[in-house]
Amino acid sequence: MHVQYCVLRNPMFVKLKASNVHSLDVPDEDHIHASASVNMGTEGLTLHLLEALVSHPVLTFALLVAALLSTWWYIRDSYEVDTFSLKQKGAADLASSASPRLKTLILDVTDSESIRRARRFVSKEVGERGLWGLVNNAGRSTPIGPLEWMHLEDFTKVLEVNLMGVIEVTLQFLPLLKKGRGRLVNVSSVLGRLAIIGGGYCPSKWGVEAFSDSLRRDMQQFGVKVSIIEPGFFRTNLTRLGPIEADLRRLWTRLPQEVKDSYGVTYLDEYLKCQDFSMRILASPRIATVTRCMEKAVSARFPRTRYTAGWDAALLWLPLSYCPSFVCDFVLRLLLPPPAAHTL
Ligand SMILES: NC(=O)c1ccc[n+]([C@@H]2O[C@H](COP(=O)([O-])OP(=O)(O)OC[C@H]3O[C@@H](n4cnc5c(N)ncnc54)[C@H](OP(=O)(O)O)[C@@H]3O)[C@@H](O)[C@H]2O)c1
Repeated sequence: MHVQYCVLRNPMFVKLKASNVHSLDVPDEDHIHASASVNMGTEGLTLHLLEALVSHPVLTFALLVAALLSTWWYIRDSYEVDTFSLKQKGAADLASSASPRLKTLILDVTDSESIRRARRFVSKEVGERGLWGLVNNAGRSTPIGPLEWMHLEDFTKVLEVNLMGVIEVTLQFLPLLKKGRGRLVNVSSVLGRLAIIGGGYCPSKWGVEAFSDSLRRDMQQFGVKVSIIEPGFFRTNLTRLGPIEADLRRLWTRLPQEVKDSYGVTYLDEYLKCQDFSMRILASPRIATVTRCMEKAVSARFPRTRYTAGWDAALLWLPLSYCPSFVCDFVLRLLLPPPAAHTL
């Protein structure tokens, strides 16, 4: 019998059996185990491996194809897709980087006709089985800033996407979810538990929390499970300082002089510095923490009602949300600059 031994990492030995391999001649099984303890040099090993590869072209070819295929599968499946996009380019990028089984869809959650089109498309795809999972992820943050700087439409812009969008998409897809006894996952925020910033963002996320809680209770009777994801701060487009700054400057420019005076000429720059500083410390680049929660909510046998994602949410914002208001107010005051005409 011809046996080829391949020493991978001393003292581990891996045994490769091959019929015509030019190597150690071993007469019986006992001898095989005895020979295993012989530590071969790296050069000898490379030589034996090369010999085995050259003398078995078919095996070598098969190994090569297997290696190429597994590399391709690995790269394709480990590619991290961050978000869906409502634009054509985003959909095309997603389709080219993900599994061929993925189908993309252009959807504007503020447009009822677009939502109905999406429902018709999905309905045709899933047929009588119904829909297993729906993740409401779309969101926007701007404008954020002192509430006094906002007009009504600054709130509605955010609420239309983050809250009304979630409600309308959910209502349209609910019959399909009921049919499939599926899962609904709403991406809220830890800011749906603690209002840290001004603007429509926090009210919209508090709304998502309330909507999801009531829907969970209603849908329990029908076997549809509803989960909420509450991420802390993550580095995405939503937390990028550029758009936030541009929008804050727009709000500042249109303020009446009296209001500007009460904040002071340096307030905006100081406010932006504080935002930048907090985001540098708090915002995590590990977006997969959030997508893993989505994955669990969609696939776990017993999904949780709430998933908290990010260290800041778990260790800072959630514990703070349970503190008395005066403690929250004091901590949050430390994160922002005082206005010029402050009285504290
Ligand atoms: N990043 C954070 O720190 C953080 C923290 C807590 C919660 N969240 C929540 O996580 C979710 C995802 O946000 P993200 O951080 O990944 O930000 P993002 O990169 O800006 O993603 C937001 C996504 O929503 C899409 N969107 C915006 N308006 C839409 C509309 N009208 N219809 C359909 N899609 C629309 C955007 O599409 P386009 O790219 O085409 O504009 C984008 O794909 C949001 O619900 C957000 O509130 C984020």
